Amino acid sequence: GAAGLVDRYGRTISYLRISVTDRCDFRCVYCMSEDMQFLPRKEVLSFEELDTIASAFIRRGVRKIRLTGGEPLVRKDIMALVERIGGHLGHGLEELTVTTNGSQLRRHARGLAAAGVRRINVSLDTLDPERFAAITRRGRLADVLDGIEAADEAGIAIKINMVAVRGSNDDEIEPMLRWAHARGYGLTMIEGMPLGEVGIDRVESYLSLREVRARLAERFTLEQTPHRTGGPARYERVAETGGLVGFITPMSHNFCESCNRVRLTATGQLFMCLGQEDMVDLRAVLREEGPDGLDAALDRAMLLKPEGHDFVLDRANPAPAVSRHMSVTGG
Ligand code: GTP
Ligand code: 5AD
Ligand code: SF4
Repeated sequence: GAAGLVDRYGRTISYLRISVTDRCDFRCVYCMSEDMQFLPRKEVLSFEELDTIASAFIRRGVRKIRLTGGEPLVRKDIMALVERIGGHLGHGLEELTVTTNGSQLRRHARGLAAAGVRRINVSLDTLDPERFAAITRRGRLADVLDGIEAADEAGIAIKINMVAVRGSNDDEIEPMLRWAHARGYGLTMIEGMPLGEVGIDRVESYLSLREVRARLAERFTLEQTPHRTGGPARYERVAETGGLVGFITPMSHNFCESCNRVRLTATGQLFMCLGQEDMVDLRAVLREEGPDGLDAALDRAMLLKPEGHDFVLDRANPAPAVSRHMSVTGG
């Protein structure tokens, strides 16, 4: 039926995040290890399968779809998928958006806009070329800045995502805010989450956004705003710049109570929470029962959604909360 997706805690699911590939051309130190094992290509969902699953979600009330990864724009022929899912806009789907590292953005910017993408989130942790090379381990800052400019020219609204890493980019938060707002971009700060083995010490590198916000509040006037995106960030307006700053605080201030989202991996596993193992294998459902099996599978999935993550940073026990990297479940 067309009933909405509601979990055991009364939360309505209206936001689907799809990791279209777990691969990436970067290896950001807080996201990946140097030697990543990626999912076997032959197990990755086809565009046909992805669209069938997206359609089932839209029929059940999903209004927002985000393509993520890994890096979504490195998946072969990705624009064909963007166009296909973009075809649902205005027919139940209200927003199609992308989270990208920006490396391939210049060549896709106009195509994204034409497919109905109105805003994108671009990951950018530093404006210093050498630091950028060190954090991403293989990215070039110039490519990303060029991609952002192309997206801006194509009329796509831009929000910069910056992961706060103590001892790495903590001295760049204010400059990044000024840089982004001067160009009309939003800036959202993110706390590092303990997902998978990576290239940095999670405990040492953790920087609470409480601390970041307090520091910003000494320099700027942060004003309340009704701005909402349906994502996890809480926004404030910076009076001096007129721009928005968002804070994503899974570690210092849990926001699971208002969670409205679920996450599909590139191989078709529907994870009910970024930080838990509960999942339904939609690829198996599709291949064994066909599209008609999806509705019942989504109902089963809703019963599995946990109340929240239980991320902890523990010096004595530094193992990640979950062994899956962010890129598998959709960063
Ligand atoms: P908007 O639509 O602009 O609000 O985007 P978004 O914040 O939903 O998506 P984006 O891909 O930009 O994600 C930014 C950061 O928030 C990433 O690090 C995500 O992994 C994290 N994030 C998104 N949803 C969740 C969630 O449900 N739980 C946790 N812990 N983190 C999340
Ligand atoms: N914790 C927090 N954010 C992360 N990202 C990737 N890995 C992590 C992590 N372990 C960020 C990326 C990107 C966003 C989608 O997720 O920098 O901006
Ligand atoms: Fe790639 Fe984004 Fe992870 Fe960096 S944070 S390695 S750009 S998926």
